[in-house]
Amino acid sequence: MLSKINILIIGSGGREHALAWKIKQSPLLGELYCAPGNAGTAKLGNNIDICNDDIIALADFGERHNIGLTVVGPEVPLCLGVVDEFNKRGLKIFGPNKESARLEGSKSFMKEILSKSGVPTAKYEKHTNVDDALTALNRFDEQVVIKADGLAAGKGVLICATKMQAKNAIKTAMIDRKFGNAGDTVLIEEMLEGEEASVLAFCDGEDFLLMPSSQDHKRIGDGDTGPNTGGMGAYSPAPVVTSDLEKDISKNIFSPVLKTMSELGAPYKGILYAGLMITQVGPKVLEFNCRFGDPECQPIMLRLSSDIVPVLVACANGEINNHKPKWDNDTAVCVVMASGGYPGNYDKGKTIRGIDEANAVEGVVVFHAGTKLDGNDVVTSGGRVLGVTAKGIDVRTAIDNAYEAVEKITWDGAVYRGDIGHRAISR
Ligand code: AMP
Ligand code: GLY
Repeated sequence: MLSKINILIIGSGGREHALAWKIKQSPLLGELYCAPGNAGTAKLGNNIDICNDDIIALADFGERHNIGLTVVGPEVPLCLGVVDEFNKRGLKIFGPNKESARLEGSKSFMKEILSKSGVPTAKYEKHTNVDDALTALNRFDEQVVIKADGLAAGKGVLICATKMQAKNAIKTAMIDRKFGNAGDTVLIEEMLEGEEASVLAFCDGEDFLLMPSSQDHKRIGDGDTGPNTGGMGAYSPAPVVTSDLEKDISKNIFSPVLKTMSELGAPYKGILYAGLMITQVGPKVLEFNCRFGDPECQPIMLRLSSDIVPVLVACANGEINNHKPKWDNDTAVCVVMASGGYPGNYDKGKTIRGIDEANAVEGVVVFHAGTKLDGNDVVTSGGRVLGVTAKGIDVRTAIDNAYEAVEKITWDGAVYRGDIGHRAISR
């Protein structure tokens, strides 16, 4: 039996508000802290003014405030080694260490692990020299994907319909250095076709528990048009991931990858997020993330009906085997409301109205992302501002509930997609 613990959440997005909302319901919670948090987390606990990349200050805070568990939202602190720093000081933390987080931090490392594990993925070449990369295009079909090897805040993946676009993409990364060091090495990848889905697992170093599937909507515009974003909406479950497919993903993707990581001396603890393309010949891995997806976390938290804290502690302790989180059969849908102009330039500081009215709609929880308090007002402070998340007995009902709530929220310049969940509906 666990006793009450103080919990620190690192991050400030919709994902972190959803985690805070779920953790707040745990009878095991003592004090809740969020660094740096947003206007939503401020209502649930104490926001702490520490940036998520200041890992020394975060660990100092953990020591001073008797933090019994730290939960890391974003990839940057994980790739910087926040878990190693906390472990060094004997502080319990949920997430992979720096070496394991390379599964997200380096796309070429990820590809090597996939190859060692015999897991299907797109064919690729890795290059550090521009001329070699340009010549290599001759060995690919007309459509390719050019990827900066390192972390680029989700912007380092360029989908190219023609060889000319691919050449420009290579130059953008390697000569213009638009992604900084992250683009010094590029991957050229075969373009895969199919429907995308995300499958996440709680991992304890050896064993893992899959969560229900979900699907993100990466493009800014309806009908999947316009530039990629951090994610404009998500739903769970994703009907494209049938139960047979889920077994396949568990046996042929998660099992071998965790085994390889363990054999390399980097046992994987925390969330492993597989971004998959469900192709005609089965699922192939597009990417791994070393953390919860944002916005996928929001519908997943709404569907988790058991306490999240014991499973997070079990992962950190390497003993997930005795745990079986319970999931609601309902569908959950999250519609992201963003600042006009996102993912390009946008204004901040716009007063948001209607959040309470939206929260009153059946099955709805409004998660904050880029928001902050200005006196008594909640104002916009980022690109993705709110994740309006709703449950329903089926996907249609969940979508209707979410949009009923979205329509109650206003600020100057708010934008959102009108078609979140369209693929689930058309199935
Ligand atoms: P990544 O960060 O690697 O997942 O890439 C971001 C997005 O780019 C993915 O969610 C896909 O929509 C797309 N993408 C990445 N790699 C490929 C690929 N090999 N084929 C088709 N689409 C891809
Ligand atoms: N929604 C995609 C991600 O979190 O990377």
